[in-house]
Amino acid sequence: MAKILVTGGTGYIGSHTAVELINKGYEVVIVDNLSNSNIDVLNGIEKITGVRPAFENIDCVDYVSMDRMFEKYNDIDAIIHFAAFKAVGESVEKPLLYYRNNLVSLINLLQLMPMHKVNNIVFSSSCTVYGQPDILPVVESAPIKPAASPYGNTKQIGEEIIHDTIYANQGYQSIILRYFNPIGAHASAEIGELPNGVPNNLLPFVTQTAIGLRKQLSVFGNDYNTPDGSCIRDYIHVVDLAKAHVIAVERMLKKLTKSRIETFNLGTGIGLSVLEIIDTFEKVTGVKVPHKIVGRRDGDIEKVWADPTYANDVLGWVATESVEETLRSAWAWEQNLAQRTKPE
Ligand code: UFG
Repeated sequence: MAKILVTGGTGYIGSHTAVELINKGYEVVIVDNLSNSNIDVLNGIEKITGVRPAFENIDCVDYVSMDRMFEKYNDIDAIIHFAAFKAVGESVEKPLLYYRNNLVSLINLLQLMPMHKVNNIVFSSSCTVYGQPDILPVVESAPIKPAASPYGNTKQIGEEIIHDTIYANQGYQSIILRYFNPIGAHASAEIGELPNGVPNNLLPFVTQTAIGLRKQLSVFGNDYNTPDGSCIRDYIHVVDLAKAHVIAVERMLKKLTKSRIETFNLGTGIGLSVLEIIDTFEKVTGVKVPHKIVGRRDGDIEKVWADPTYANDVLGWVATESVEETLRSAWAWEQNLAQRTKPE
């Protein structure tokens, strides 16, 4: 079976993708420097799949170590490149950290691919490349707007670097996946999102507030031009997202791609507001989430949700999990985490 390199494979989306790949019989090699994840994630992957993936503690920015890693696993068939920094606010404070980490790691991989005869790479992009779209739901051909943060810029530049490099190297291909807002956790509650410190993203803040780790959730703005005034996003179950990566890899390995680079939105097509998410979470879990409305957060987009038709038609992939089930899974994971960290 094909061997897949998963960079950032102990991270949130990476770990769920490793599980789906192993379930389909792929051999998985994880490279992660554990800068924003935990080695215990490997136990979770093993519990779910019965297989412990190969693991290398390497920073993808370290060219020499990456070169050695490719030598060691000398027949890698495809790369899924998740490893990146992703905190929007931090990227504004430390832009060079973001440009260096996110772009040098990608450049290293693209440089090493031909040397090690790896032809295929899946790149983690983001709906952030669209900024505030003029037309919703947003399609892949929508204009790319100036990035609102250095983080967003690394995704835009990353896509450009891939374009230029793939077209300059005969035989190489890439699938670019633009994620909307991944939430939820594996149904086993063995793996899930593990935010470092105070969560930036909505869902971990909701679950941490529900379990009592945080006093109150701040809702950033209720004066947007949306039905209830709070921002709208397309929240997608992380396992649905993970499954799309397996399909993308299969598509490249079977040479089914129609062009050397294909770009897909990965979303549900449904836009939900912050207040709707809180309300639905409270309904499905029966747990209250204390929250208050505060001012807008800098750099937030008012509303964005995907048109996933292209991925539906071409990849034969559809997000199947309901938001209710997804929120339930996020809550089960938070409860499991609380059990694990409870003193004996
Ligand atoms: N929100 C709150 N309170 C919080 C956290 C978030 O009200 O404590 C709101 C935000 O204002 C936003 C929504 O919840 O309206 C979603 O916010 P997230 O931070 O969860 O997600 P974003 O849409 O801001 O960011 C996500 C990814 C980023 C990516 C971005 C692209 O997390 O990595 O989409 O737009 F860059």
